[in-house]
Amino acid sequence: MADRNISIVAILGSVRPNNYTAMALNLALDELNKHKGVKVELFDPAIMHLYPPGLSGDSPDPVKMREAVTDATGIILATPEYHGSFSSVMKLAIENLGFPSVMSGKPVALMGVAAGAIGAIKSLESLRGVCSHIGAIVLPGPVSVANCREIFDEDGTCNDERAEARIRSAATNLMHYIENNICPRISLEAMVRGEELPSCD
Ligand SMILES: Cc1cc2nc3c(=O)[nH]c(=O)nc-3n(C[C@H](O)[C@H](O)[C@H](O)COP(=O)(O)O)c2cc1C
Repeated sequence: MADRNISIVAILGSVRPNNYTAMALNLALDELNKHKGVKVELFDPAIMHLYPPGLSGDSPDPVKMREAVTDATGIILATPEYHGSFSSVMKLAIENLGFPSVMSGKPVALMGVAAGAIGAIKSLESLRGVCSHIGAIVLPGPVSVANCREIFDEDGTCNDERAEARIRSAATNLMHYIENNICPRISLEAMVRGEELPSCD
């Protein structure tokens, strides 16, 4: 498939230096970058200024992220598991996407990363609930990464083949959904309007 116009926004939910959530997300982004014509944009709250609802400032970051999500074909959210839920940083990022949220109607792939052996099941369930509530299309097969401190080296290399394949599947699942559902719809709408067939065919 050549010359597609698919854009994916990834949002990172940990701001800890050398965080493991970024290591996992990087693998998924690497997988996405194998797809020709797919633009990938990462939002890292550690280097952004986001504001809680009710506060505002000079930073253009919230608007930039909102516009990117508005234009995005799909989204990947990667959160650490903190205290049996997703991170407050991820919640802040979601709150910066507006009310109503610009994630509404967008396919969203979820990834959770935990130090514990049971993985990030609880954070993924709560994140799924929030994303569904705001109208996002939460894709099945969220990726839960367990024992992250054992499976990743400090340089971000993953030493567990099966875990790496599962992490990468967050990207491939999202691309499959987009290719099978979003792209045909865009082409069909263009045909009905007599427009030139666009983008992602
Ligand atoms: C405030 C806090 C709460 C945490 N709670 C949990 C938890 O409930 N379950 C768990 O498996 N790990 C927990 N952890 C460990 C994280 O899962 C661990 O730091 C992991 O590396 C993912 O976070 P990171 O992306 O920030 O590195 C917690 C860590 C912090 C800082």
